[in-house]
Amino acid sequence: MELRKINITDIEAQWAYTKELPTNENGLTNPYNGVSYDEYKEKVLPILISYEHPVNMPDWFVPETYYYLWDGNCLVGEFRIRHHLTDALRNGAGHIGYSIAKKHRGKGYGTIGLELTIQIAREIVPEEEIYLRVNKDNIASQKVMLNNGAYKAGEDEEHIFMRIAK
Ligand SMILES: CC(C)(COP(=O)(O)OP(=O)(O)OC[C@H]1O[C@@H](n2cnc3c(N)ncnc32)[C@H](O)[C@@H]1OP(=O)(O)O)[C@@H](O)C(=O)NCCC(=O)NCCS
Repeated sequence: MELRKINITDIEAQWAYTKELPTNENGLTNPYNGVSYDEYKEKVLPILISYEHPVNMPDWFVPETYYYLWDGNCLVGEFRIRHHLTDALRNGAGHIGYSIAKKHRGKGYGTIGLELTIQIAREIVPEEEIYLRVNKDNIASQKVMLNNGAYKAGEDEEHIFMRIAK
């Protein structure tokens, strides 16, 4: 099992994943659902790669790196790391967003993928803790976080705010 940073070589598998990923599932958003291969290649992939070193982006935009979880030659999930917090992220989506392909859920990939992502995030994130947010009704994702040592730091009406010590 490995996490590979978004890249040009893996374009076909990354495109297939992005095309299928719902527009919004439990707060994990994807504006590129249904994207064609050509549009992914010409527009979307360069944009997503550029997020690591943003150019001409608004002030609020925090560098973000996309990683894909591979089991052998099968891409099973996506993990996004936002490099540092802003007030909006601190009180919102936090450092990490993730998803596992529907057909691969319930097999432990979410748990191992978050573990590998946290290993990378430890080297990137300056804050003392990794911040995460999860919907109250998203039990699977809460378990993924708890399996990785998360504790509940707070909540609002719809969400639980979790943190993992670095
Ligand atoms: C949340 C998500 C990443 C979990 O991925 P996954 O690969 O299925 O996770 P795991 O297989 O590691 O399962 C973690 C735990 O959740 C449980 N689980 C899995 N699916 C479940 C479901 N539908 N309902 C309740 N529990 C579930 C598993 O049994 C496991 O429990 P355990 O730790 O007691 O063994 C995946 O469901 C997903 O991509 N959801 C849509 C996007 C999303 O919600 N992202 C997170 C936003 S915070």
